[in-house]
Amino acid sequence: MFLLTAILLFGSGCSQKETGPTERTIAKSEAPAYKPYLNSDLIQGRKVFEQKHCSQCHSIFERERKVGPKLQSSRFYGSFLDIFSLLWNHAPAMGVYMRKEVLDRPQFSSVELNQLVSFLYMLPYLGESGNPRRGETLLAEKTCFKCHSLGRLGRKDGVPLDALAIYQSQVVLLQRMWNHGPEMIARMGKTGIAVPTFSGNDMTDIFAALTESANEKSRKVFLGVGNVENGMQMFKTKGCIQCHAIFGKGGKDAPDLGKTVSRSNVTALITQIWNHAGKMRARFQEKKLQWPYFQETEMNDLIVFLYSLNYEDTAGDPKRGEAIFRENRCMDCHFKTDADRQKIVQDLRSADAILFATKLWNHIPAMEAAMVTQAVPWPQMSGQQLRDVLAFLKNQ
Ligand code: HEC
Ligand code: HEC
Ligand code: HEC
Ligand code: HEC
Repeated sequence: MFLLTAILLFGSGCSQKETGPTERTIAKSEAPAYKPYLNSDLIQGRKVFEQKHCSQCHSIFERERKVGPKLQSSRFYGSFLDIFSLLWNHAPAMGVYMRKEVLDRPQFSSVELNQLVSFLYMLPYLGESGNPRRGETLLAEKTCFKCHSLGRLGRKDGVPLDALAIYQSQVVLLQRMWNHGPEMIARMGKTGIAVPTFSGNDMTDIFAALTESANEKSRKVFLGVGNVENGMQMFKTKGCIQCHAIFGKGGKDAPDLGKTVSRSNVTALITQIWNHAGKMRARFQEKKLQWPYFQETEMNDLIVFLYSLNYEDTAGDPKRGEAIFRENRCMDCHFKTDADRQKIVQDLRSADAILFATKLWNHIPAMEAAMVTQAVPWPQMSGQQLRDVLAFLKNQ
């Protein structure tokens, strides 16, 4: 949990400056194939989490026991509405606890709600912390120690790997290996060593072995979790788009990453990318393309961009949405008169998932009051059902 610990302990103070894309660079590039909604700034998200009193009842990684369950990262897979539906469905129980603690139910602006849901979405990205003993074993098994040293381990005159100890994030391991890829892969070819690949938590464990010698305090270089918009630019400028498409736009030689890169954490992503470095190297040589090198936070940005691809909601099914809207008695209130119907349809015509969820959430008090008098049960909805309802309302 190096990343989050760093954020919680030091705030943004110790993170390296990340330069965001300027207005001009955005305007200059071709129309983006895909507009990211994810706000990967964990500091903003954490702020909302505190301001809206979530932290009063929930801990995240802290040991402290609170009234609500610990928000374990493994729960938060899925799109914006999938995650929002967890909040929606627990609204009544939350209300009960909030009355006990004399808290008001929080209201959100759409920016705040997106920051909060983004924050929850980012939790699995941080991955698990590694096991340094297993990492050392892997460095030997994966032939790294044939060419490398680490402290007193490995080959005495090997290329030392000790310099990575100061980094907070394992993305650095990928970036370094990647940048030395052509040289390393060439040497492996010469010595008859197959390019090693990884699975599961291997890379996290290796990173843990590399950084074990540095204690938390001496680990200073925190590159941030990456910037989604920069990462989208990287995807183009580093040539990924030559072979890969994102949601149908881009190269056709390789899997569409919009479809395949979901439910990943940072470990899974860096593993997938490294595992295909060998093959990519060959393809790059065939096509006479320059090997893409990554500087500073560039790999971080690319990784978080790939991670963000699952955040946006796909369109729902208006037919199913109609049924849900009726069964949950939304219709009783909202389509009661023609004017009622006009109002909600007008207000949602151009809404995206985030605005829809914000309006839905903020009207809980009004809805709850009316529901209690009419004895309507709480309308539980899954992410898919929310997508369907939105599609229905937009389709009117
Ligand atoms: C007053 C206490 C309280 C506050 C404030 C509160 N919660 Fe909860 N939350 C709970 C309790 C208790 C549960 C479990 C009970 C239930 O849902 O039936 C829960 C459940 C959840 C769950 C479902 C967890 C799971 O594993 O399924 C999520 C997600 C969640 N809360 C997020 C939030 C967020 C985000 C906020 C801030 C907007 C928040 N909560 C504010 C008490 C609270
Ligand atoms: C056949 C020899 C060889 C093997 C096997 C090998 N490497 Fe390398 N590695 C190199 C060389 C040579 C360099 C330096 C290349 C350069 O200077 O461009 C390097 C560079 C690196 C770097 C960058 C170091 C830095 O300070 O930036 C990392 C990280 C790395 N290797 C990790 C690994 C890991 C992990 C393994 C095992 C999975 C491994 N290497 C296996 C030869 C090898
Ligand atoms: C020359 C073509 C080519 C380029 C350029 C390329 N890739 Fe790939 N990539 C492939 C192919 C082919 C695969 C299919 C898996 C394999 O054979 O390794 C793949 C697989 C992947 C996967 C795993 C996807 C899955 O569904 O398992 C990821 C992630 C990935 N590439 C990321 C990238 C990134 C990031 C870049 C840019 C730095 C990039 N690729 C550039 C050809 C390419
Ligand atoms: C008991 C009556 C009642 C029920 C049932 C009800 N709502 Fe509402 N809803 C309201 C009222 C009243 C408002 C306007 C409140 C306000 O402006 O804060 C509203 C506002 C909304 C808005 C914002 C609309 C706008 O014009 O900005 C949305 C979206 C919405 N409801 C969706 C739903 C959905 C989906 C359901 C079914 C799960 C539902 N409502 C069930 C009474 C209800």
